[in-house]
Amino acid sequence: MPVLSPDLQKKLAEPLIVGGFVINSRVLQSPLSGVTDLVFRRLVRRYAPDSMLYTEMVNATGLHYIKELPKIMEVDRAETPISIQLFDCRPDFLAEAAQRAVAEGADTIDINMGCPVNKITKNGGGSSLLRDPETAESIVRAVVNAVNVPVTVKTRIGWSETEINILEFARRMEAAGAQMITVHGRTRAQGYNGAAKWEWIRRVKEVMTIPVIANGDIFSIEAAIACLEQAGADGVMCSRGTLGYPFLVGEIDHYLKTGILRPKPTPLERLQVARDHLIGLHEYKGDRGIRQARKHMTWYAKGFAGAATLRGQLCLVENLQQGLDLIDGAIDRLSELQDGQAETATADDLMNLVMQ
Ligand SMILES: Cc1cc2nc3c(=O)[nH]c(=O)nc-3n(C[C@H](O)[C@H](O)[C@H](O)COP(=O)(O)O)c2cc1C
Repeated sequence: MPVLSPDLQKKLAEPLIVGGFVINSRVLQSPLSGVTDLVFRRLVRRYAPDSMLYTEMVNATGLHYIKELPKIMEVDRAETPISIQLFDCRPDFLAEAAQRAVAEGADTIDINMGCPVNKITKNGGGSSLLRDPETAESIVRAVVNAVNVPVTVKTRIGWSETEINILEFARRMEAAGAQMITVHGRTRAQGYNGAAKWEWIRRVKEVMTIPVIANGDIFSIEAAIACLEQAGADGVMCSRGTLGYPFLVGEIDHYLKTGILRPKPTPLERLQVARDHLIGLHEYKGDRGIRQARKHMTWYAKGFAGAATLRGQLCLVENLQQGLDLIDGAIDRLSELQDGQAETATADDLMNLVMQ
């Protein structure tokens, strides 16, 4: 493991403070649409109780027209620290949605200004706000005026290689009242391709007073440390590295706090967590939960003999019993193996497979 610089050690000894809100961890779990529902967050929190977790992004316009709270906005009663993420381009709808989010229990409100998906950007939301900083400012001001919790922004470094405007944009968000900014070190045009440019996050940090969180390519403890050192950021946010691996945020947090590496979960342990995830999704969402569970299960089932066959079966699962039979069968087979054999696959193998 790399040795931490004195500056980083000093930073890590202190909590992350967002507005007045104190977070005892500098490792955050990103919002992931289709993933970070209440069931997934319970698993992440099992290993990272102090970390800030985010809901999936919630459409503020959609929310304006419905009375019932969408499931993606639900948080556990005692869930903290938790941020509800909203997206849209209308300041009034976002302000209204933020009030509902606070009533639901959000500790902070995050505004999505980074989503690259056409469906979102063509309606003026997500990363298209990077090209419309006036509206982005109006949004932040309206939401700050509407709620009494800190308002934060998550964005990218720019629209494209020739339109990198994060320095000016971030300053404007801070001036409008944002209390923290998370910067994904890619442009909108990059999508999720190419390496995240942490050097841009360093430049943002140099011009900001509010906390700056670095996001992009945090797949391991080593990457988190390298990013914190290079970007000088106030924290790191994990994203794709947590797919089928809800241990990552806790693993990094534990190491940064103690200097001690948690043992990597064995394939058997990962399957046991996959089992909890499947049951949780079924309890929470019924048949829809089973359909959503398919992708999760295939992300967990990696790094052991027979995993490919299991993945093929898991992505066709129609009901809870089928899923449990498959996972329990694999658990039984792995339990019969000698410890050493069952533990040959590392989390890095798992990450590589997730990224394929
Ligand atoms: C499946 C998926 C869903 C995502 N959903 C959201 C979202 O709802 N809100 C958001 O701000 N970013 C979302 N993102 C972006 C991630 O939070 C993160 O910024 C991005 O994946 C970069 O980090 P990484 O390189 O570590 O994956 C999503 C990314 C993926 C892959």
